[in-house]
Amino acid sequence: MTSVADTAETRQPTTVRLAVVGAGRMGGAVIHGALRSGELRPADLGVFHPEPERRDALAAQFGIASLDDVGVHQAERVLIAVKPQSFERVAPLIARRHAGFVSIMAGVTLATLAKRLGSSRVVRAMPNLGARVGASATALAWTAETSPADLRFARALFDGCGSVFDVPESLFDAFTGLSGSGPAFAALVAESLADGGVRVGFHRDLARDLARQVLLATARLLEDTEPAAIKDEVASPGGTAIAGVRTLERHRLRFALMDAIEAATERASELSGNGPGW
Ligand SMILES: NC(=O)c1ccc[n+]([C@@H]2O[C@H](COP(=O)([O-])OP(=O)(O)OC[C@H]3O[C@@H](n4cnc5c(N)ncnc54)[C@H](OP(=O)(O)O)[C@@H]3O)[C@@H](O)[C@H]2O)c1
Repeated sequence: MTSVADTAETRQPTTVRLAVVGAGRMGGAVIHGALRSGELRPADLGVFHPEPERRDALAAQFGIASLDDVGVHQAERVLIAVKPQSFERVAPLIARRHAGFVSIMAGVTLATLAKRLGSSRVVRAMPNLGARVGASATALAWTAETSPADLRFARALFDGCGSVFDVPESLFDAFTGLSGSGPAFAALVAESLADGGVRVGFHRDLARDLARQVLLATARLLEDTEPAAIKDEVASPGGTAIAGVRTLERHRLRFALMDAIEAATERASELSGNGPGW
């Protein structure tokens, strides 16, 4: 537990609109998204860390205020982006009756959040690493006590990180399996395409650039074209692409990816203490 005296040297704003508890990879990405959306200005944000030096460093890194636990209690709302295993330790520090909270912790349910934080004004969000570049798919779920203003705020926060989807909490583990874990699977595909390029004679850097460009082009095409239509358009009769597609079918690429989503969803369910939710 820290005290105000620990941070006498740091800037203590009276109130910030959003206190970020856990400004690591994802918390940091959400801060960037919030600023990108225009919903929040740097002066509206503050960051908390139990170690004064660490929170001052994070505050300097993002150009926002450094908050101790008193600063968090004064904030209009709190974003919780610590690891799920840190939550039990963090919750008593930040719990506040009827305060507004947004959590991105995987596997921590709305019921647990409400119980530990002493407030049912909670929104649960599941972004992915795409938040760093404004291209996340973020699921939102909330409680009956979440106010329209809380929900509007959460939507604006994650709009700045990419696209927002309202998803029932029962599908959050599945969302984690496909969307939360998905960038790892797509990155594996990118890495494999580049390895294939090296195998047929390209230098590594060029092979990596080509693989990235293929995925980028496909992602843009997918905005208004079905996956099967893209495949059919590239695969001309007796041509190169259909020869590669046949090879991928022989190696059961579709099955492997479907199975990966299922395995990731099962693991998310295990971690959140649920049975399979689909
Ligand atoms: N990574 C993803 O793709 C992803 C996607 C969706 C959701 N999430 C969720 O996002 C959360 C954060 O994941 P991450 O990958 O961003 O982890 P991370 O990079 O390790 O970030 C966690 C941050 O919390 C800080 N922290 C630790 N204890 C704290 C405390 N008591 N009070 C305040 N800050 C504290 C850590 O500081 P130190 O470095 O000093 O320990 C670190 O900056 C997790 O709950 C995860 O389930 C992650």
